[in-house]
Amino acid sequence: MKKAKTELYVEVNVPEKELKSFIQKAKDWALINGISMRSKDPYSPNTLKIAPFLLLPSTFPKKEFVKATEVQITLNELMHKVAHDHQFLTEVLKSTIEVDGFTEKLFRIYEAVYAEGFNQKISLGLFRSDYMLHGDDDHKILQVEFNTIASSFAALACKITEFHKYVLKDLGYSDKLKNIPENNAMSGFCRGLVCAWTLYGNDEAKMLFVVEGITYNICDQRFLEFGVQKLNPSIKIIRRSLGELVTQAKLGPNNELIVDDSIMSVVYFRSGYEVEAYPTEKEWAVRLMVERSLAIKCPSIHYHLAGAKKVQQALALPGVVDRFLKDPNLVSKVTDVFTGLYGLDLDEKGDKAVAMAIETPRKFVLKPQREGGGNNFYDDDVRIQLEKMKDSKERTGWILMDRICPPPLKNILIRADSEECVEAQDVITELGIYGVIVGSENEIKVNEQVGHLLRTKLSSSNEGGIVSGAGHIDSPYLLV
Ligand SMILES: Nc1ncnc2c1ncn2[C@@H]1O[C@H](COP(=O)(O)OP(=O)(O)O)[C@@H](O)[C@H]1O
Ligand SMILES: [Mg+2]
Repeated sequence: MKKAKTELYVEVNVPEKELKSFIQKAKDWALINGISMRSKDPYSPNTLKIAPFLLLPSTFPKKEFVKATEVQITLNELMHKVAHDHQFLTEVLKSTIEVDGFTEKLFRIYEAVYAEGFNQKISLGLFRSDYMLHGDDDHKILQVEFNTIASSFAALACKITEFHKYVLKDLGYSDKLKNIPENNAMSGFCRGLVCAWTLYGNDEAKMLFVVEGITYNICDQRFLEFGVQKLNPSIKIIRRSLGELVTQAKLGPNNELIVDDSIMSVVYFRSGYEVEAYPTEKEWAVRLMVERSLAIKCPSIHYHLAGAKKVQQALALPGVVDRFLKDPNLVSKVTDVFTGLYGLDLDEKGDKAVAMAIETPRKFVLKPQREGGGNNFYDDDVRIQLEKMKDSKERTGWILMDRICPPPLKNILIRADSEECVEAQDVITELGIYGVIVGSENEIKVNEQVGHLLRTKLSSSNEGGIVSGAGHIDSPYLLV
């Protein structure tokens, strides 16, 4: 690897002439061990290709990593409380649902089940809180977003940790292994799923993974499925799309969710956060049926809504976290990781935020109420988009966020679809911390921080989604 300032990468020596064969070995390791995905073009359910990944772990300050892990259980609890605060969700999402049809649909489902009373009081949260480092010298973590639905890569995150340990050992740097933190994201998620299945209390009941028609990120999902069955081989898991459930799902006499004559105890959504999952009203009707059912949902509709970007923005307003967390010490730990977030309501504050972003668009990111990557606006597009929406109601469906500027690092990116650049490139990284929570409104039964993920991209690209494009799976190498 070409030399740069030490802290920018893990200092290891791979002889230049061996690099190509070393990378081929790394790719084979990745494929064989499941750091893989289905190929999009051409698609075949029988073929895997390597998922984009980093040859070496990326450096990350230990202090900030530990901070992120330590605040996770407080964030889990915060989101749990937000999800159970009807008045708060209703107030915060009021203006959004007037202009955002997708959020409105979700909210109507929530309203319906809230009015009837939740048949299932327990929710399962498999969360991921995402951060980037910010600052000139003394970098600190700032939260990008909090995912409450389909938080992905818990399984592949553990595989890449294993891979980076292998690489360091293979290159003769066993002394460096102590800087790679343990990662139990996958087993943590599996334990969460099994815990929910056990709480449901029916040994015959199955688990339902709600998936897209075609799943590219298949390894990540199947590892969880197989991991659950390793913990309890008697648990049966089925996979269905919302479209398939239209004809296959119904409610039993006690609101049991029945699919193909079997009772579902846990419904784990790996789809359903995106508009495309609901091509017709029938898929919406299925989502409502699932939410009405006795099955434990991951997430329940109220957990899903608590993860809305509008909620994140509302939580960043002064004094709002205090409404949910009593301990001022914990409140300050949470608000310390928040960055500037601005609502775009048609009022003086909203006008001020719009003017500020039009003036200096590069300092902001403009976000709609969407998940899954590729929806945000950056740079000049922030200005262009805001000028288009300026004083129309449409803008209230968006939020504005301070742009986080992580320090550029150096690393070698490996992808299936391009010739290797064996030179280290400028990259930036995003940390995700996984959390598991199980409980009902007044009783949290499980609340844990279980592991982490790094997603790393070229410093020139705006978004870091792995399935959606620019991101690469990575693991942290902690610097003291
Ligand atoms: N405030 C920000 N500053 C810099 N980059 C950001 C910011 N917010 C989002 N991004 C980039 O955009 C990506 C997608 O944004 P995110 O809020 O996570 O939405 P999504 O729900 O689509 O994943 C992030 O993973 C990150 O790479
Ligand atoms: Mg994201």
